[in-house]
Order: sequence, then structure tokens, then C-alpha cells
Amino acid sequence: MDHFVYQDGVLHAEDVSLATLADQFGTPCYVYSRATLTRHFKAYQEALGDHPHLICYAVKANSNLAVLNVLARLGAGFDIVSKGELERVIKAGGDPAKIVFSGVAKQADEMERALELGIKCFNVESLPELERLNAVAGRLGRVAPVSLRINPDVDAGTHPYISTGLKANKFGIPVEQALEVYETARDMEHVHIVGADCHIGSQLTELAPFLDSLERLLVLLDRLRERDIIIEHLDLGGGLGVPYQNETPPEPFAYASALLERLARYEHGNEMTLLFEPGRSIAANAGVLLTRVEFIKPGEEKNFAIIDAGMNDLIRPSLYQAWQNIVSVDTRDPRETSSYDVVGPVCETGDFLGKDRELAIAPGDLLAVRSSGAYGFVMASSYNSRCRPAEVMVDGPEMHLVRRRERLEELWTGECLLPEGDD
Ligand code: LLP
Repeated sequence: MDHFVYQDGVLHAEDVSLATLADQFGTPCYVYSRATLTRHFKAYQEALGDHPHLICYAVKANSNLAVLNVLARLGAGFDIVSKGELERVIKAGGDPAKIVFSGVAKQADEMERALELGIKCFNVESLPELERLNAVAGRLGRVAPVSLRINPDVDAGTHPYISTGLKANKFGIPVEQALEVYETARDMEHVHIVGADCHIGSQLTELAPFLDSLERLLVLLDRLRERDIIIEHLDLGGGLGVPYQNETPPEPFAYASALLERLARYEHGNEMTLLFEPGRSIAANAGVLLTRVEFIKPGEEKNFAIIDAGMNDLIRPSLYQAWQNIVSVDTRDPRETSSYDVVGPVCETGDFLGKDRELAIAPGDLLAVRSSGAYGFVMASSYNSRCRPAEVMVDGPEMHLVRRRERLEELWTGECLLPEGDD
């Protein structure tokens, strides 16, 4: 459930009409709903109930400071993958002690900063990374809390680009090698084993792959116990899907309950804190991309609706053939419906936000691309020297500009001409 609903024929974000937002902030523009973010986060919190847990929102899904701040105020932890994300979380008021650091290529300076701030855990993805972390922590005279990211070789049944838990993927330590790497970690002076983690992919719509990987992790935990390696927390990653079209992914409640139920049957299940790293299921349906129809271009084979947002603003349709619903903001004037390819201004044939969409539109109309709160702005670029869109957060009747539209001169910040001289 989200808080983007039609009131008297006009799509609203909470209490504010999207038409008002377009007048105020221009288009294209990302619009987020605070109540929706809150609702999705609380769904996880409530599902986990009394079981010791920490929900570490995956910052990569939407790293706007205001979004992070809303979640930090709710007590969220954060899953980060770079120093940039780390600094964002700190700036947004996040608690370093609730941060887990994922990613396959952590740099020494990133490790240093995270150690200085005292993060909860490094999710280590390989033996060389573990060695680097041990060395960096040693230099600083610290001990790094670590979890090993296990690649359980489970098929998440999702798009190949967002599947991460197969042997063929670059992520994590193969489950068969995990024992050995844990033993190496145990013998290191500057790391301390606290957890085990996995993340098998994104936009999963079934519970089975999650349960399969939990099963494999529990087998590993037993074998670790035999070697006196005790895991304090189990981090099951993110990956829960959202309804973009006709998908019916489990709700956070069903998802968390199924995992808790399995843990309850595990001898030491109650002793372990459970961590999740959800991104999409918190942010996707808490945002839309608001855009305006520039031209209608009828064609022999296709009609095109040319809009002011392009693949540089929202790349998911081009990159993953992702389907996101595109709806009219104002449905009060009855218009004829036609089928359109909804395309942007970028000079690429792959620049589309939707294909074969039935829409009742005219030039100047506003459209909302739904489910754009995750992997939307964060993946935007200034390709074709287009300024990245503004971001607005609605909170009940209030609207807050949480990132102003990029300015032209910012497009070449950091660039310079060659020195003058002989030509
Ligand atoms: N934890 C780790 C280690 C991850 O790699 C990811 C996502 C998450 C958590 C959050 O997963 P979520 O709950 O959002 O599924 N750009 C793609 C999605 C890439 C996901 C990458 N990793 C898209 O737009 O579909």
C-alpha cells in the first residue's frame, strides 16, 4: 500500500496534488511520500516483533539525505557499499553503530573511515578483502567486526542483472569455502567474527529462494559451532520484490514470519539477531517520477508520446526492460485512449520509459511513472548534458524540496579548458 491516490480525479502524493507539485517545482521531478516510506519500514519492524533484529535500509536504493533521515528517525540501520554512502548516512543523522558495509571492492580508505566511525559490521566478500581489512584495522590499532557474505548458490529467479546468489556471480564466498575462510578470520588478530550474511538478488517474488538460502546458512552455522565459531547475527540481505505490474511478492510480514518460523525451529535461532537489508521494498512504491508530455507523434507503426523525462532520469526500463506503470495525473477530462511508446528526449533508440501503453493524453499533460522511489534518481545521469531532476518529499499537506534541480553550470563543474597556447 502506498500514499499515491486519486482524489477527485487527480493523482495526489498524500494530501498534495501532483499538478501542484509540477507547478511549484517543474518537471521532470521525483516525488517521494514520507508516510509510505514510514509505512514500509514499520511493516518490517512489526513483522520482526520481539525477535532481536535490525533493519538496515539499503542506501543504494535511494540515498537522498531526507529519505535517509526519515528512516534514521525511525531507528533504521543502514546497508552501505561505499564511503560516499557512509558519509551520507552520517550527514542524515544515521547511527554508525547500526551500519553494515557490503560490496566486493572496499578500498583501504573506506575501511579506515568505517573503522574510525565504529560501524556495526563489515560484510566481507572474499579472502583478499578479509586480509586487507585485517591489515587496515591493525594499522589503526582496532579490531574490525566482520560477517562473511556467503554465496549459497541459490537461483533467485529474477532478472540476470540483479541476481547475485549464484556461483556464476561475483558476489560473496562460495558456501563450500566458507568454513575455511571463517577459520582464517578466527585466527586473525584484527578481525572479530560477529555474523554471517547473504543477499541472493533483487525483486524476488517468491519465498522459496530465501528459505533455501537460510537453510544452507544454518547448515554452515552448525559446522562453525563444531569449531567453536559462534555467530551473533544472521543478515539475510535485501531482495524482497514489489508489485510493479501483476507480480504478487510476499508482504514483509509474510516474508519475515516465514524466516522467523524457520529460525524458531533451529536450536540456536533465538540467540541470533536477525538483520535485513531491504531497499526496493521500502522505497520503490514511495516515489514517482513526474513528467510532462511534450509532443504526441503519431506514426504508421507506432504512436509516440514524447515526454520531458528520459533514460538518463530513470534507466530501469532501458537497462533491465523493467515495466513501470505510467499513469495520467489528471483524469478529469475524458479523452480518447491510444497506444503509445512513451519515449524521452535522449538521442538513443533505447530511450523509453514504457512501450505499448494505453493512455488518454494530449501535449502538456502530466504523467506519473509509478514505483520510481528505488533505483530511480540514484541511477540518473546527466547524459546528453541534461540536468538531473529535482527531488521533493511530501509529508501530509507539506511539500519539501529535498534536492533542487541540477543547474547547467554544475554539469561542467570540475572540467577545464586546455591552457592557451600555440594552436
Ligand atoms: N544488500 C545488498 C548486498 C545488495 O546488493 C542489495 C541490492 C540490497 C541489499 C538491496 O536489495 P533490494 O531490497 O533493493 O532488492 N538497480 C537494480 C537493483 C540492483 C540491486 C543491487 N543490490 C534495479 O533497478 O532493479
